Amino acid sequence: MQVLQIIFLLSLPYVSSKLHSYDYCVLGAGPGGLQIAKFLEDSQRDYVVFERNNRPGSFFLHLPRHRKLISINKQFTGRKNKEFNLRHDWNSLLSKDEQLLFGHYSHDFFPHADDMVRYLQNFSIGINVRYGTDIKNVRIETNPEAWNGHRFLLLDQTRQEHECNVLLVASGISLPNVVNFPGAEYTEGYEAVSIDPHNFTGQSVLILGRGNSAFETADNILGYTNFIHMLGRSRVRLSWSTHYVGDLRAINNGLLDTYQLKSLDGLLEGDISDLALVHDGSGKLFVTHKHYLKNYNNSTNNNTINPSSMLPKDDLDNFAAREPYDRVIRCLGWKFDFSIFDKSIKLKPGFGLKKKYPLVNVNYEAKTYSRFVCGGCCQPWH
Ligand SMILES: Cc1cc2nc3c(=O)[nH]c(=O)nc-3n(C[C@H](O)[C@H](O)[C@H](O)COP(=O)(O)OP(=O)(O)OC[C@H]3O[C@@H](n4cnc5c(N)ncnc54)[C@H](O)[C@@H]3O)c2cc1C
Ligand SMILES: *[C@@H]1O[C@H](CO)[C@@H](O)[C@H](O)[C@H]1NC(C)=O
Ligand SMILES: *[C@@H]1O[C@H](CO)[C@@H](O)[C@H](O)[C@H]1NC(C)=O
Ligand SMILES: *[C@@H]1O[C@H](CO)[C@@H](O)[C@H](O)[C@H]1NC(C)=O
Ligand SMILES: *[C@@H]1O[C@H](CO)[C@@H](O)[C@H](O)[C@H]1NC(C)=O
Ligand SMILES: *[C@@H]1O[C@H](CO)[C@@H](O)[C@H](O)[C@H]1NC(C)=O
Repeated sequence: MQVLQIIFLLSLPYVSSKLHSYDYCVLGAGPGGLQIAKFLEDSQRDYVVFERNNRPGSFFLHLPRHRKLISINKQFTGRKNKEFNLRHDWNSLLSKDEQLLFGHYSHDFFPHADDMVRYLQNFSIGINVRYGTDIKNVRIETNPEAWNGHRFLLLDQTRQEHECNVLLVASGISLPNVVNFPGAEYTEGYEAVSIDPHNFTGQSVLILGRGNSAFETADNILGYTNFIHMLGRSRVRLSWSTHYVGDLRAINNGLLDTYQLKSLDGLLEGDISDLALVHDGSGKLFVTHKHYLKNYNNSTNNNTINPSSMLPKDDLDNFAAREPYDRVIRCLGWKFDFSIFDKSIKLKPGFGLKKKYPLVNVNYEAKTYSRFVCGGCCQPWH
C-alpha cells in the first residue's frame, strides 16, 4: 500500500496537460486542507489537494513572526479517554495514527512554529497533494453529465485547467488588512516588519491594532523602545474574560502591564480610518486627524508637510500622541482572498466582523453553491 502510494506521488509531475477530472478538489495544504484530505484519503475518494508552495503548512514557516504558537500543547491530562485528551490538545489534527499526536513533535506548552511545520509535513505523508500548483482562477459551469449537476474549473499558473465536482476551499485568511488613510504609505506591516528587537533601539513606535499580533510585536521590542503606543478602535478584548482563544492571550499581554504600571507605553482609542500620518521631512511621523488635512491648502503650501499646522492644538487634545514616532506598524489582521473566484461562483463576503470571510451557512458551505466548502475550521483554534 505504502509503495503504491509513493509511485502515485512520483508519477504526478508527469501527468499530461490534458484536463484531469476529480470528484473532490481541496484548495490549500495548510492544516484545514490536510485534515479534510485525510478524511477523503481514508474513505478512498477520488481527490486532489492543490498547494502553491512546495511543502505543506507553509503559513507556519513565517507566521506567527515571533515564532511562538499560542495554541496549547497539552500533553498530559491524567485521563485515558482519547476524545477527552484531543479536546485539550489544540494542535493535533484528527488521525487514527497515534504517532500523529503533536506531543511527539514538541514538549513546549507554547510550541515553536517550526514544530508545527514538521508536524504538518509528517501528517501530509500519504495524502495526494500537488505542490507548486497555484490556482489563479476558479469558475463553475452547470454540467448535466456531472453527478452533482456542475463542475468547478480551476486554472493554475501554467494555464492547465483542473475539473472538480466538489471544491473544498482551505486557502486560509491570507491577505493582510490594510486600512487606507492619508500617510498610510509610511506604515510597515506585521508581516514584513523587522523582528530583531535591536532594530528598535531608542525608537518611539506606534502600533495600529489591538489583537495578538499587535501585542506579540510589542512584547518583542518593549525592552528597546522609548515607548510604544497602541491604537485600536475598541477596548482590548482579553481572552480570559471573553473565553475566545483569538482575543488577547495572557502570554502576549506584557504591554498592558507596562501601560498600567506607567512605564511610558500607552493605549489609545480611535477609529483608524479617521487617522492621518504626516512627516516632517526628517523621518519623524506625527499622528493627526484627517480633518486637519482637509483645511490644509496643499497648493499654497506646495505639498510640503508641515506638522505644526496639521496637528490639533486644543487643550482637550491627547497630548501623549503629540510626540513624533519613528515607526508605525500595522497589525490589523487578515482577510480571505476573494480575487481568484470568478463571478460565476457568486462568492460574497460575510457581514460586519465576518466580512473577512466568505458568507457561509452553518455547514460552512458557501451560501450560493452547496458543494463548495470553506475550510480552515478543523482546528479547535476556530
Ligand atoms: C499571526 C497569526 C498567528 C497565529 N498563531 C496561531 C497559533 O499559535 N496556533 C494556531 O493553532 N493557529 C494560529 N493561527 C491561526 C492559523 O494560522 C490558522 O488557523 C491556520 O493556518 C488555518 O489553516 P488553513 O489550512 O485554513 O490555512 P493556511 O494554513 O493559511 O493554509 C492555506 C494554504 O493554502 C495555500 N493556498 C492559498 N491560496 C492558494 C491558491 N490559490 N492556490 C494554491 N494554494 C493556495 C497556501 O499556500 C497555504 O499553504 C495564527 C494566525 C495568525 C494570522
Ligand atoms: C516524521 O516522519 C519521519 C519520516 O517518516 C520519521 O522519521 C519521523 O520519526 C517522524 N517524526 C515523528 C516525530 O514522528
Ligand atoms: C536590522 O538591524 C540589522 C543590524 O543589526 C540590519 O542589518 C538590518 O538591515 C536591520 N533590518 C531592518 C529591517 O531594519
Ligand atoms: C492635501 O493633501 C492631503 C494628503 O494627500 C489630502 O488628504 C488633503 O485632502 C489635501 N487637501 C486639500 C484641500 O486638497
Ligand atoms: C488654495 O490656495 C490657492 C492659491 O492661493 C487658491 O487659489 C485656492 O483657492 C486655495 N484652495 C482652497 C481650498 O482654499
Ligand atoms: C514647489 O515645489 C517644486 C518641486 O517640488 C519646486 O520646484 C518649487 O520651487 C517649489 N516652490 C516653492 C514656492 O517653494
